[in-house]
Amino acid sequence: MMNFDQGEFRQTAEQGADGTQIERIARSISGEYQAVHCYEILMNEAKSEREKRQIAEIRNDEIRHYRIFSSLYLQLTGQAYTVHQTEMCPNTYPEGLRHAIEDEQNTVDFYLESGDKAQNPQVRSIYYRIAKDEQQHAVWFLYFYTLNKF
Ligand SMILES: [Fe+2]
Ligand SMILES: [Fe+2]
Repeated sequence: MMNFDQGEFRQTAEQGADGTQIERIARSISGEYQAVHCYEILMNEAKSEREKRQIAEIRNDEIRHYRIFSSLYLQLTGQAYTVHQTEMCPNTYPEGLRHAIEDEQNTVDFYLESGDKAQNPQVRSIYYRIAKDEQQHAVWFLYFYTLNKF
């Protein structure tokens, strides 16, 4: 279980560094939520059982990430973060895969940058660890895209 030193957090908040960090965690929660939502649709459009199973596994990773960031937000702010709305998901399987590849790659960048900026070593290691999952997701989606030769 994650354990954060509230005193340490307050100290960095006073330095003005943590507003950005909290905003980044909120953005991470929204991104994970959106991915869970769109991958459910993508999963049901998959061209083979194997792809469907793998997308379901990726979706489970996103649910886990969503919970990790949500509990991080709660521990750092004392408040729960609620995602208010979701964006539209792509309509077709190829569009969904293309969107997923780009989104996963952009998320890797965002998480690595967030890890680099984090002063709290636990926050940093959470971002670095989850970035590795997202990198792997990008490769899976690229593989499916290639297999289907759209
Ligand atoms: Fe994720
Ligand atoms: Fe992902």
